[in-house]
Amino acid sequence: MLKAIEMKKGIYWVGAVDWSMRSFHGYSTRRGSSYNAYLILDEKIALIDTVKAPFVAELLERVSSVVDPKKIDYIISNHVEPDHSGSLPIVAKCCPNAKIVTSAPNGLKGLTGRYGELPYQAVKTGETLSLGARTLSFVATPMLHWPDSMVTYCPEEKILFSNDAFGQHLAANRRFDDENDLSIIMEEAKKYYANILMLYGKQAQTALAALGSLPIEMILTGHGISWRAHIPEILEAYKKWSAGDLEEKAVVVFDSMWGSTERLAKAITDAFTAKGVPVAYFDLRADHISDVITEVLTSKYLAVGSPTINNQMMPPVAAFLCYLKGFVPKGRRAFAFGSFGWGGQSVGLVEDELKAAGCEICLEKIRVKDVPTQDDLVAIREKITAL
Ligand code: FEO
Repeated sequence: MLKAIEMKKGIYWVGAVDWSMRSFHGYSTRRGSSYNAYLILDEKIALIDTVKAPFVAELLERVSSVVDPKKIDYIISNHVEPDHSGSLPIVAKCCPNAKIVTSAPNGLKGLTGRYGELPYQAVKTGETLSLGARTLSFVATPMLHWPDSMVTYCPEEKILFSNDAFGQHLAANRRFDDENDLSIIMEEAKKYYANILMLYGKQAQTALAALGSLPIEMILTGHGISWRAHIPEILEAYKKWSAGDLEEKAVVVFDSMWGSTERLAKAITDAFTAKGVPVAYFDLRADHISDVITEVLTSKYLAVGSPTINNQMMPPVAAFLCYLKGFVPKGRRAFAFGSFGWGGQSVGLVEDELKAAGCEICLEKIRVKDVPTQDDLVAIREKITAL
């Protein structure tokens, strides 16, 4: 039988671990994920968030290990996205006495649109709910990750139920940061921020300002590992990521047909390295665009390469650039490179997309016919040294 895990006296994790999930709408999740839900036992009983629909039986089993679901008074729905709310209609049926607390107006609109009429109670920032010894206070965090998103704070426990913020797609049985490898948690937190929240840096800064004054001893996340030992580290990382701070680092990303664009990518990588600029090297025949974006988040330089195929760039490069454009990254210094046999349109098309993504073109496009010569490679090194 699945059991609830006590996070603090009277507060339990009752979520589900999704060990097998490898794609979260296109974001490669090689370490799986979890859908975290929490149960607070007080004079009134509150369930904070639910789980993705296929995991509803796990949630109910964990809840039932500590209390009869019929005794739940409130279901707090911090976020409408179905990885948190998908099981709400079934959970609501199993908790016939529960009010469903959601943000006004967007949570109410979103849940009603998806699940129809249920016993909703809409709340705004600053509104509170007394459970008895504990209070729940709600703070709207629009666009972290959808317009409806909110977080829930319990002042008596100094716990923030942060939903998508500060989470990671990371499957684990142990729930806290000090029980897992911190370097892996931070790696996955960065990947999560880059792929889910990067577009909303301004809103993240607003939320951080609103939450910054609260005493917080525990952040219970909606995905992955929760924070109690390394709260300053994750808050500081979010400050840096949301401010768009860039490091003197380069991302080199490309596809190649017969090795010529690959040779250019290696020469560019070697040139940056010789200049003392660390490089993250991505070959799109093997690497995933969500890993590339994770490095783009903090890198100042971006070099994108493609040979020409049927008068176009290679489709994996087009997919990467389409994904990049959606994040509207600011302040990157970028350039395009690639080889060609005859038409050679790809490099210009890549450069156009980099401009459309808001990148500053810092180097004239590098186009090489057939196979790069030694002179071509030396010229690349000189250009990058001069950047
Ligand atoms: Fe984890 Fe935006 O849902």
